[in-house]
Amino acid sequence: MRNTHTPARFCLEVSPAPCVLVLFGGTGDLARRKLIPSLFQLHTRELLHATSRIVGCGRTEHDDASFRDVARNTLPSANPDECDAFLERFSYVRTVDTDASSFRRLTAHLDALDKLDTPAAFNRLYYFAVPQTSYQPLIACLAGAGLLNEPDAGGAWRHLLLEKPFGSDTSSAAALDTFLHRYVREDQLFRVDHYLGKDTVQNILILRFANSLFEPVWCASYIDHVQITVSETLGVEHRAGYYEQAGLLRDMFQNHLLEMLALIAMEPPVTFSAEAIHTAKLALIRAIRVFPVDALETCVVRGQYRAGNGLPGYREELGVDPASTVETFSAMKLWIDTPRWHGVPFYLRSGKRLASRTSEIFLVFKPSPNKLFGKAAPDSLVLKVQPDEGMCLNLQAKRPGPKLCMGELPLAFNYADLGAELDAPDAYARLLLDAMLHDHTLFVRNETIAAAWRLFTPVLDLWQAKPDACPLYTYPAGSDGPKAAGHLMTRDGRAWRPLI
Ligand code: BG6
Repeated sequence: MRNTHTPARFCLEVSPAPCVLVLFGGTGDLARRKLIPSLFQLHTRELLHATSRIVGCGRTEHDDASFRDVARNTLPSANPDECDAFLERFSYVRTVDTDASSFRRLTAHLDALDKLDTPAAFNRLYYFAVPQTSYQPLIACLAGAGLLNEPDAGGAWRHLLLEKPFGSDTSSAAALDTFLHRYVREDQLFRVDHYLGKDTVQNILILRFANSLFEPVWCASYIDHVQITVSETLGVEHRAGYYEQAGLLRDMFQNHLLEMLALIAMEPPVTFSAEAIHTAKLALIRAIRVFPVDALETCVVRGQYRAGNGLPGYREELGVDPASTVETFSAMKLWIDTPRWHGVPFYLRSGKRLASRTSEIFLVFKPSPNKLFGKAAPDSLVLKVQPDEGMCLNLQAKRPGPKLCMGELPLAFNYADLGAELDAPDAYARLLLDAMLHDHTLFVRNETIAAAWRLFTPVLDLWQAKPDACPLYTYPAGSDGPKAAGHLMTRDGRAWRPLI
């Protein structure tokens, strides 16, 4: 890929200063599936300082050796020598948030690490890969042990990386925020939405604002409607405990789908800085029209998968209440009250146990006003977030042959065609690196979270208070979702892009 004109500051991979990464939930699912492999990617790319360390923490009994074994098992195809060098960075301290003495042990351990290499240069990154209910006790323990204090001299930092969900509605999110700000400043907080770490999601801004082609037509005059889909084939897996509390709206819409919507629809940021991008995203989310709670069914559909295609239904999954009314699917139509999007509907859908795993954004242009060739299919642009990362612009063109027949011409680009040279880091590798570099661009601000809850809390409240006002439709596992989601489109004379 030619890259001759990109300013170097955007291309350079910057190595962060040394730090100790304290990983709460160090042997948990997220750490094993994502965080440890992502740290290994940073290690092999020499993007972890040689003296940076990784301290696993959690309730599980481990010593350094057994924690290293856990970590090694997450890297089955790693080069053994490289893996050994990486694991040298690892140690483990058992911490229990009801036991202050375990945090004294952690303090002593961190002090000892500081003395090993470059005294006083050590920064600390605390990653909370734990359920949300553990945030407050853990943070209180860290504060009690003095582990959140940034030294006055030397500029060493204490950064906190928190995983969603951030609260479960407007008031709990505000309470969490107030709690966090009792102990740390906003700029010490890095709230993770891993979709923002995906290359294809970051590409949205470049595509929109680095090209002269798209921005002029990125508006109501040219775009008929926009669809955002995140469909998964997996069910709830082993996460029933969390999912029964959360449900799909909190798990996917309040964060991943809304962040993608913001990037697709926001006004150009004034500069390419974290602050300017946050401001533009926030303005967009605040401009989304609140859902009409007295006519919710006209714009919001919820569903739950039942047994089908040889797969169990949600209520049969391990740990799920057999009478659960938790949604595993939702589709909605929403409006953005800005001049750019006047009259353009945005359709969003997401669900578990659907027919395919697809995350994509589909922009459908208005039909050409020119009727020279009769009625033609509208042009469209598909941004494929995953899998088969890439994009495709569908245009009308003459079909080869003696007659003047039209057909759709897909101008497709796949990241895979760029080859291994441009092998993208995992989203978590990008986010871990940015948190070490104090770059907030790809993290979520508290105000954005509050704006997102302002939209979804009334919907969740209504589902809870008046379940009949917005029925819970079922759909067979492995299907396209409930029929009602299709009606949301057909009523408007439109159709979802098939889940392929
Ligand atoms: C997580 C959700 O945030 O995102 C999961 O909690 C979901 O329920 C996952 O499966 C999807 O992420 P990805 O990157 O696989 O699309």
